[in-house]
Amino acid sequence: MPNQVHISEHPLVKHKLTLLRDKATDHKIFRELIRELAMLLGYEAMADLKLAEQAVETPLETAPGHILQEEVGLVPILRAGLGMVDGIHEMIPGAQVWHLGLYRDEKTLRPVSYYNKLPIVPTVQVCLILDPMLATGGSATAAIEVLKEWGVNRIKFVGLIAAPEGLDVVTQAHPDIPIHLAALDDHLNERGFIVPGLGDAGDRQFGTA
Ligand code: PRP
Repeated sequence: MPNQVHISEHPLVKHKLTLLRDKATDHKIFRELIRELAMLLGYEAMADLKLAEQAVETPLETAPGHILQEEVGLVPILRAGLGMVDGIHEMIPGAQVWHLGLYRDEKTLRPVSYYNKLPIVPTVQVCLILDPMLATGGSATAAIEVLKEWGVNRIKFVGLIAAPEGLDVVTQAHPDIPIHLAALDDHLNERGFIVPGLGDAGDRQFGTA
């Protein structure tokens, strides 16, 4: 496994991922689990955010303290990445949210860009790309390329489940990008679905199956 790939070993991640995969899990619980898993993985992905020292006055005396030194951008890939925003945003309310619209052409499995609302120059130092599923890796690769061209210094991908085929594509194209996941699954099927996976993360969140 390349050093850039981090698969969470946290028991809560494993527990919640199992509930998420369950075909009996309804849309409401599915959305809650996506939100909670995003918080847990986002917490791990932000473990190296840079800090500045800043003293703080407690009711008793001055204590050493720290404040975040970097602006963070959350970049959900529409649609399925949307469900990963709120939980992370609650932990880091100053984060900016930049939406990227990519869908996968069902025949070619190539990503098609349909929405990009990034400002002309980056206003953040760190971007977390949010997408629960990394299948062929086409969407993740395209999103990383957009952010690199935009000029972001530090980019991380935060997903839930990856297929080995897609993970290879992304790590070979972008060996500098940390990838945080809850699980690496077995394979992609002939329709480009991750197996065993959890089905279609967008449809299961938004009830469109
Ligand atoms: C899914 C998923 C990823 C992409 C992964 O989105 O949410 O964005 O496919 O596939 P890839 O690694 O092969 O690119 P989809 O295209 O189904 O769009 P949706 O989120 O709007 O349902």
